[in-house]
Amino acid sequence: MAKRIVVLNGSPRRNGNTSCLIEAFTEGAESTGNTVQVFFLQGMDIHGCRGCFGGGKDPEHPCVQRDGMDEIYPAYKEADVVVLASPLYYWNLSGQLRTAFDRLFAVAECDPDYANPRKECVLLMAAEGDDFAEVENYYDKLMGHMGWTDRGKVLCGGVLKVGDIEGHGDLDEARNLGASI
Ligand SMILES: Cc1cc2nc3c(=O)[nH]c(=O)nc-3n(C[C@H](O)[C@H](O)[C@H](O)COP(=O)(O)O)c2cc1C
Repeated sequence: MAKRIVVLNGSPRRNGNTSCLIEAFTEGAESTGNTVQVFFLQGMDIHGCRGCFGGGKDPEHPCVQRDGMDEIYPAYKEADVVVLASPLYYWNLSGQLRTAFDRLFAVAECDPDYANPRKECVLLMAAEGDDFAEVENYYDKLMGHMGWTDRGKVLCGGVLKVGDIEGHGDLDEARNLGASI
């Protein structure tokens, strides 16, 4: 069954290594009939969560803040699969992605028990080094908390500059993962 996939791209580099992983993943996912919508977070006006616990009153606008998240909320609501795509920044997801993800709390606030909508999830990452242990642990915890199902991770180490990922085998891995969704 075709699925709706939302990709949150947390890299500030539009043509960077993370974006290449996303491109390959998208190619695979679309080849098997899925639809993919990518949000390049760096280009969006997304503010940090205020921690006000005042959201969830209007499912059309779950957060009290009105900004770029208003584009993401409807797509997130409809999505079967969420792809978290990010460069490794200090052993974690980038601030751009963390900031947007915090704001999804407002969607949980729409439920009296703070239940998150059920999703499948994919992690795509690029890094100079190869130490993904902390972020994998973080991601696994996040999946447990959200009640989401992990569909796979592509963690591409050894890429620093834009273009370093060209010809890397992990692009095939991302393409195959996309096709398997
Ligand atoms: C602020 C910052 C922090 C970084 N932290 C790490 C890190 O902890 N581990 C690592 O291997 N690479 C780190 N890097 C390197 C990036 O992960 C690497 O350049 C990656 O390919 C960038 O992906 P992009 O091209 O999609 O932006 C860091 C880069 C920056 C700018």
